[in-house]
Amino acid sequence: MYPSSRPRRLRATAAMRGLVRETTVTASQLVLPVFVKEGATEPVPIPSMPGVVQHTRDSLRKAAVEAVAAGLGGIMLFGVPATRDATGSAGIDPDGVLNTALRDVRTEVGDDIVIMADTCLDEFTDHGHCGLLDAAGRVDNDATLAEYAQMAVAQVQAGAHVVGLSGMMDGQVGAIRAALDGAGYLDAGILAYSAKYASVFYGPFRDAVESALQGDRLTYQQDPANAREALREAALDLAEGADVVMVKPALSYLDVIRAVAELSDVPVAAYQVSGEYSMVEAAVAHGWLDRRRAVLETLTSIRRAGADLVLTYWAVQAATWLR
Ligand code: PBG
Repeated sequence: MYPSSRPRRLRATAAMRGLVRETTVTASQLVLPVFVKEGATEPVPIPSMPGVVQHTRDSLRKAAVEAVAAGLGGIMLFGVPATRDATGSAGIDPDGVLNTALRDVRTEVGDDIVIMADTCLDEFTDHGHCGLLDAAGRVDNDATLAEYAQMAVAQVQAGAHVVGLSGMMDGQVGAIRAALDGAGYLDAGILAYSAKYASVFYGPFRDAVESALQGDRLTYQQDPANAREALREAALDLAEGADVVMVKPALSYLDVIRAVAELSDVPVAAYQVSGEYSMVEAAVAHGWLDRRRAVLETLTSIRRAGADLVLTYWAVQAATWLR
C-alpha cells in the first residue's frame, strides 16, 4: 500500500537538494538600480525605500566600486535633476546630472561592470510624463522619439554601455538603434522595457526621483490585465533590434516573464521594482518576514519564471548572501 514514487527521497539532505536544484541566482545576473541627485552634498535617504539613497556624485562612484566588488553584472543609473522643463532638456545636456554621473562611473569602473542608463524623460520634465506633450496635453509619440534618440546618443557618449528604454513609446527601439548606429555606436546595447505595466508598485520610485507627475501613464504603459499585449510589445522590440527585453514589475507578472522568455531569442530581464522592495522591507521592519529568505525566494522565483537577469535594489546584499 506504500507509494513507490517518493519525491521526498530527493529532499532528504542538503547535498541531495543541492544536486537537484533547478534554478540558481548568481551575482553576475543582478543589476543594481541607483539614483544620483544633482547638487547633493550628502547621500539623501529615501523614506519609502529604507536602505536606498539618492547618491551624491562621490557616493555614487563608491557605490559603483562596491557593485564591482560584489561581482554584480550591471548598474542602472537614474538622475534626479535640480531643474526641469517641458522638454526634459537636462536629460540630453552632456552636463546634466545623469550624463555627468555616467561619465564619473565609467571613469571609475571602466568595463568591469555593465553601465546602464535610464533613457526616459520623466525625471527631466516639469510635467513628469515620459515624453513631450502636444498642444492638447497628450504625450506625443513621434516627437518624443526624436528626443529619446538624442538622449540615448548623449548617454552612450557619456559612458553608458547599454541604454534602458523605459518610456513605452511605440517605435522607440528602432528610432534609438538608428540614432546610435548613425553616431557610430554600433556596440552600444539596447535594453528594452518591452512589457512595462502601469503599476502601483512604482510609487516609492517616484519619491526617489521626486517625480512631478500629476495623473497617470495609462495611455502608454500597459494595462495590468493584459498578457497577450506584452507578447506583441516584445515581438516589436525584437524586430526593431532590442538586445535584451524586459518585463516590469516582476513578482506580479511572472506569467508574462515566462511567456516572453518562450518567444525571445535574446536575454530576458525582469525589474523587481521599488514597491516590491518596499513591501518586503516594511514586513521585515515589523519582524514579519526574514529578509534574507524573502529576498532570495523572490529572486529565485523571478529566475525560475524565465528571467536571465534581474534588476533589484537588493543586488549588493543578495550578492553577499550568494557567495
Ligand atoms: C521611468 C521609470 C520608472 C521606473 C523605472 N523607470 C517609473 C515610472 O514608469 O513611473 C520604476 C522603477 C521602480 O519602481 O523601481 N523612467
